[in-house]
Amino acid sequence: MIPYGKQYISEEDIAAVTETLKSDFLTQGPKINEFEEKFAQYIGVKYAVAVANGTAALHLSAMALNVNKNSKVITTPITFAASANCVRYCGGEIVFADIDSATALIDIEKIKELLAASPQGTYQGIIPVDLAGYPVNLEKLRALANEYGLWIIEDACHAPGGYFTDSKGIQQKCGNCVYTQLAMFSFHPVKHIACGEGGMITTNDEELYKKLISLRTHGITKDPELMHENHGGWYYEIQELGYNYRLSDINAALGVSQLKRADANLQKRKAISKKYDNAFANNTNIKLIQPAAGFSHAYHLYIIQVENRKGLYDYLKQNNIFAQVHYIPVTMLPYYKELGYNTKCYPNANAYYEKCLSIPMYASLTDEEQDFVIAKVLEFVV
Ligand SMILES: Cc1ncc(COP(=O)(O)O)c(C=O)c1O
Repeated sequence: MIPYGKQYISEEDIAAVTETLKSDFLTQGPKINEFEEKFAQYIGVKYAVAVANGTAALHLSAMALNVNKNSKVITTPITFAASANCVRYCGGEIVFADIDSATALIDIEKIKELLAASPQGTYQGIIPVDLAGYPVNLEKLRALANEYGLWIIEDACHAPGGYFTDSKGIQQKCGNCVYTQLAMFSFHPVKHIACGEGGMITTNDEELYKKLISLRTHGITKDPELMHENHGGWYYEIQELGYNYRLSDINAALGVSQLKRADANLQKRKAISKKYDNAFANNTNIKLIQPAAGFSHAYHLYIIQVENRKGLYDYLKQNNIFAQVHYIPVTMLPYYKELGYNTKCYPNANAYYEKCLSIPMYASLTDEEQDFVIAKVLEFVV
């Protein structure tokens, strides 16, 4: 069986987790700090906050930016629903801007139209998604966001190691928060770094960082400078409503160990994508999304677009190749439909959904397995 994505766990990973299991700390111990520091260094950002999963990272990010029942936030319909759900958790309204068919990323021109159609102050923020690992042009998005005073949370779950080159020629790594308030990542097993479950929020803003640390643990503070009273060494205060969204030290130990191979694995993903690109280059019935000049794709997913997507999906499955669809437009999901979203408003997302298929892409995919996948795709799509 060849899945579309899977984790790679080395003997070193197992040893790292075992060491933590034998230690004094299973949660919020030294591995959390180490993971946060090393991840921040890898991404090139000041602060990183480890949390239970990517969805918790989105929820806390929305909370930290004060999303509430009066908030309107823009995202893409082609994403995992968590990018939109986080706004709903806080009682806010999520508004979808259609995608650009060339990249399958949120179309910045469509965002511009939405913003121009409402009075200033209608919207509070934007959650762009680096779909499949293709970095959003955050410099361009920041310029637009500045016109309307909006914050940006980059959903970089698919893109650790990806970057775009800005107008000054600087390579801006996904999640480095040079053009955003916050960014977030997931360490679900199919992602670049597997923790089992895990997530990370990154930021350069000290105030947001402190708020996130507090919200991650019930809004608890033990800092004598911040407390209203102090009854003794045991005393703490809950000063705002937070959650238990902590990552365990066990998961963090796995994350630290996986992070060591992040660059090597990214190179492997790039080699796999190049081989697919070459294999499909002459087949006009397979549409590929190639990153524009200056954009370095992180290849969480390798997505092709074909006319008979269901036929190809079924054919691959018969051959024990388990492809996947990323994504069903969020606007088509019953929960969102019932909220009143009109699926017809997102023609590019709908057209993309009809054709997209993610074929196997993961660092441990062997040459033989990839050859088999290529052969089966080309047998079906002639
Ligand atoms: C784009 C995107 N956003 C958010 C999430 C949520 O992450 P998690 O599954 O770790 O909660 C995912 C993961 O599936 C994702 O792919």
